[in-house]
Amino acid sequence: MNEPLWYKDAIFYQIYVRAFRDSNGDGHGDLKGLTQKLDYLQELGADCLWLMPLYPSPLKDDGYDIADYYNIAETFGTLDDFKGLIEEAHRRNLRIIMDLVLNHTSDQHPWFQDARANRNSPYRNYYVWSDTDQKYQEARIIFLDTEPSNWTWDEKAGQYFWHRFYSSQPDLNYDNPLVQEEMIRVAGFWLELGIDGFRADAVPYLFEREGTNCENLPETHDYLKRLRRFIDQTYPGRILLCEANQWPEDVRPYFGDGDEFHMGFHFPIMPRIFMALKKERAEDMREILRRTPSIPENCQWCIFLRNHDELTLEMVTEEERQWMWENYAPDPRMRLNLGIRRRLAPLLDNDERKIRLAYSLLFTLPGSPILYYGDEIGMGENIWLEDRNGVRTPMQWEPGPTAGFSEASSGSLYAPVISDEVYGPARVNVKSKRADPDSLLNMIRHMVAVRRKHQAFGWGDFAWIDMANTSIAAFQRSHQTETILAIHNLSSTTQNISYPIQKSVTLMTDLLTRQEFLPADETIEIELAPYQYLWLR
Ligand code: NOJ
Repeated sequence: MNEPLWYKDAIFYQIYVRAFRDSNGDGHGDLKGLTQKLDYLQELGADCLWLMPLYPSPLKDDGYDIADYYNIAETFGTLDDFKGLIEEAHRRNLRIIMDLVLNHTSDQHPWFQDARANRNSPYRNYYVWSDTDQKYQEARIIFLDTEPSNWTWDEKAGQYFWHRFYSSQPDLNYDNPLVQEEMIRVAGFWLELGIDGFRADAVPYLFEREGTNCENLPETHDYLKRLRRFIDQTYPGRILLCEANQWPEDVRPYFGDGDEFHMGFHFPIMPRIFMALKKERAEDMREILRRTPSIPENCQWCIFLRNHDELTLEMVTEEERQWMWENYAPDPRMRLNLGIRRRLAPLLDNDERKIRLAYSLLFTLPGSPILYYGDEIGMGENIWLEDRNGVRTPMQWEPGPTAGFSEASSGSLYAPVISDEVYGPARVNVKSKRADPDSLLNMIRHMVAVRRKHQAFGWGDFAWIDMANTSIAAFQRSHQTETILAIHNLSSTTQNISYPIQKSVTLMTDLLTRQEFLPADETIEIELAPYQYLWLR
């Protein structure tokens, strides 16, 4: 566990703790429940778990509205349970990172309660107030479906307050040095408990400046570098993962000179994987990776197919967004804000060939992959739940009305288990997928195990390979003496490829199946089945 650059080739797994496993039968997943399931995560091959917010919260934004930064919400357990979880995880070589929500608090946080009640409160200046709602007009609204403005009038305070998300989430004022210090103290509190780092939420929005869109400001980067210095000095080896839903060139500065974030999500590649699968061509993925600047050696991208939010369509053009909605969200209920509230398997028509192909891309494109809980067994969604709750339903461990998630009655769970015939626990559950050697779950385990043996995936250079055939996504990953050629047939039909290779290569082996390919006349000719992929060495 001492390797400082461990995140360069780690497999991440995202967990909504409330959904994972309920140990005390109250219908809500908890830390003890998660601890019981660590063996499963280890078996899957995860290296690091990202836990969504655990803090006390009124849950207006599922815990991203924090009412106390120094505690665990009662439904999840206690700080001791948390320490127990970290200890058990570390015993299995599993690391844990958690959400650090820097940008805003809940309006129920005592700071805000005090601030709104009293102009002379020491906490007044923890937030951003104004007598008008006309400041910072260039800042976009993120939760378009619910928020008419980034300013909300507060009767008690007699002023407007600033918020980039729900109006129940007032933004903290980073121009106040006390706020800056307070949030570093928060980070230190959790690092001291043994956490391995943070997924830092919504970092582009920390500062506001008139005449700008209030995103990615230099002041924001200065503060984040300060947070990084604190971590490096006091807790070396712990990481910061950046959530900045931005274009690659705007995310690039969050890596600094290797002195800001260790990792950053690559948002724009994600919708383009879905485009590639539907259009049966690689061009959009190629374009965005061409546009992606290189990052310092000690940094890494984090790539994903789905997460707990809507499949965001912020990093596409207006035309592409319409196209994505038409193709992937035919029912208006599937749309939310600028995105799509669906899970991976239903998005891909529950067609395992497409799902596996998507995972193959995830595991071979540049960056460390992160899996979203439940997607490894092909869980479905419930679009009739509010907000993004339809992709946050109970993990399906076993058949049965509560899917082995809880001992409570099915009616008293925090959210209903997916119940339809195709995606319900009778068919989709860990127990049966684990027993079936050909299941998606076992295929993912296999991909993870193979990926682990080859540093080229985490550390290697990346280069597209030009195939005359536009339905093929082919690229090379090379590191030191090893070169791996990843080839994907994005189409629903058989494709033939012919690719020139060096004389010195006499044999190519698919790392996943051990199938061998013999080049002839310095050319390799392969027939690819629909949606087939190869990891050729
Ligand atoms: C990003 C999180 O992923 C999302 O779930 C949340 O609503 C916003 N940040 C606000 O914290």
